[in-house]
Amino acid sequence: MPLHTQDKNWILLTKHTAYVIGLNAAGRLVHHYWGRQLPFPEDYFAENEPLEWLPFDAPGMRMSEEYPVYGSPDHIDPCLKVMFSDGVRSAVLHFESALPEDEALSLRFRDDDYPLALSLHYRIHPTYDLIERWITLENLGTVPVQIERVFSAQWHVPNNGAYRLSHLTGRWAAENTLRREWLSHGIKMLDSRRLNTSHHHNPYFAIDGGAADEDQGQVWFGALAWSGNWKISVETNDYTAARINIGINDWDFGWTLQPGEIFTTPATLGGYTESGFGEASQHFHDYIRDAVLPHGKTTHPVLYNSWEATTFNVDETSQAKLAEIAANMGIELFVMDDGWFQGRKTDHAGLGDWHPDVQKFPHGLTPLIAHVNRLGMAFGLWVEPEMVNPDSDLYRNHPDWVIHFPHRPRSESRNQLILNFGRADVRDCILAQLDKLLRENNIAFIKWDMNRSVSEPGWPDHDRDQRELWVRHVWGLYEVWGTLRRKHPNVIWQSCSGGGGRADIGILHYADQIWVSDNTEATARLGIQHGFSQVFPANTMEAWVTDADSARVPLEFRFHVSMCGSLGVGGHLLKWSESDRAIAAQCVAQYKEMREIVQFGDMYRIHQSHHGAFSAVQYMSKDRSEGVLFVFRTHIPDPVFLPQIMLRGLEPDAHYAIEDVSGSRSGLAWMTTGVRFDLHNFESTLRRIHRIEGA
Ligand code: GLA
Repeated sequence: MPLHTQDKNWILLTKHTAYVIGLNAAGRLVHHYWGRQLPFPEDYFAENEPLEWLPFDAPGMRMSEEYPVYGSPDHIDPCLKVMFSDGVRSAVLHFESALPEDEALSLRFRDDDYPLALSLHYRIHPTYDLIERWITLENLGTVPVQIERVFSAQWHVPNNGAYRLSHLTGRWAAENTLRREWLSHGIKMLDSRRLNTSHHHNPYFAIDGGAADEDQGQVWFGALAWSGNWKISVETNDYTAARINIGINDWDFGWTLQPGEIFTTPATLGGYTESGFGEASQHFHDYIRDAVLPHGKTTHPVLYNSWEATTFNVDETSQAKLAEIAANMGIELFVMDDGWFQGRKTDHAGLGDWHPDVQKFPHGLTPLIAHVNRLGMAFGLWVEPEMVNPDSDLYRNHPDWVIHFPHRPRSESRNQLILNFGRADVRDCILAQLDKLLRENNIAFIKWDMNRSVSEPGWPDHDRDQRELWVRHVWGLYEVWGTLRRKHPNVIWQSCSGGGGRADIGILHYADQIWVSDNTEATARLGIQHGFSQVFPANTMEAWVTDADSARVPLEFRFHVSMCGSLGVGGHLLKWSESDRAIAAQCVAQYKEMREIVQFGDMYRIHQSHHGAFSAVQYMSKDRSEGVLFVFRTHIPDPVFLPQIMLRGLEPDAHYAIEDVSGSRSGLAWMTTGVRFDLHNFESTLRRIHRIEGA
């Protein structure tokens, strides 16, 4: 049984972990424990109460309150801040009821003096050692309540005195740089204020005591399933207890909760492991594949994308030529990127008018799609539904549909403005256009892009708090995308935002994969993919082989990097030599043979040395019978003697062979003494691993 109720205490059990909360004598909900399961229920209830009151030292400083709210004398960075119509800004909540289910729990609290109810929701994901949490806030009264902050959760880690935070940071074309840093007293804050998840930070955290690595050590980790403004703030307080607030960013947030309304926050996922960052990632990977992705079990096709080859200069002839070469390489899906729709000659026009450009495609998309299909490939298309160029029919007809402040300039970025998806008329218009496109054309794949951050975040004719825009836009995005998914259930969707600007667990309820970065240079990708893989599984990691840095980095190396995810090709195929095309065909065939292991197996980041210039990643099938090993050397000045690579995830007592390495050995031997490869600069190797049955 994953949920145990004992009086007013609740023990949430996953396969290996326990998460324990309970009401204290004062009726406050206290976090007691999050870690490995203990033998007896009473083990979880260590002393957690403040011993005494001191004037400047309120109980909340030493007590781990599960969801602290503004208004107590505690001065902990709270999760909730509301203002009632008479100006009172404190919430005083008392437990009302619990709704326990097999794998879920809701705890409802009510304000003592005002008609406001707060519910904490928990869902247990036993197999993945994950706990999911979110909040609902309900106005039971007759006048509005102003919400200023409502985070999804506060996560508590034990008071060990020393905390290291791992997080993902970066910028456009350099997303997902993994950082590990010590926390000191005060608040460390990560956030997005851009309307999307952002290239700059990702709503992910991991906390350890400094000793964890890929294979071992206690790690508490989490993420937020949300594609808009978000915030993670880790407060290390006077008693060095770290608390992680996570939720919708309260920066410029405002919400008028009308009588009878319920506000629901996005969910946060949290997990605990004693097997290091590697297992933390595997839990996320399995959960995302099994429980989040709409097509989590579907093998992703090898795709070709025309962007880097033809940019905006797409037409039937240019695309047909690329498609023919792509088909000969064994590519399964041909994606025409930007440039195909009305008026789109450059990035100055066209966004918003989602029908084929009459000059470029006088007979519509059907002839090209039919050609691509005849070549044996499926067809995919690029769209950027939330955007509009001022030079478009949509904007000329509806200039008030964009996010803007009246009387202020509308700042353009890449010559475009953002349509306000909070508005029903905007959603209806875009939905109708995209639905028509999908109904009238045999489209198997859509890349959904978003190529700018927000500015002037106003919604002048909204009759409520204009700051609701931050949330209503994202809800609108989910609604349009979700409706299209339901109407066209076989389409595969990719989330892109100038590369990896919208990579989060929220969007993966709609998108099957993510375009990880506009930086397709293979050696840069190694680092970006390393960071991305902290949270996201390989089947969501769309990775193209392009011409970036092709003078220095061999084609095979570039393929190997992309084969670590969902393989795609994005180079200018017309310029590829016959021998390059032959290498590509070979790599595509090789990928098809092993992609089930990469896309659905367990991933191990098994080696990083020489400042990341020597690295190895391994994937193992779930039944441990087959694996793939990738080893990369970028630039390391000679002389160098490359270290052994210790494999992972093998059955210790079974025999395994590694492709082109002499002799079979036990799994334990490969894992403890390893294997060595002499690679030159910018050389890589891919080796299949086989369990030898009956040996
Ligand atoms: C973004 C994407 C690219 C490409 C261009 C098209 O930058 O990340 O892959 O689709 O838009 O304009």
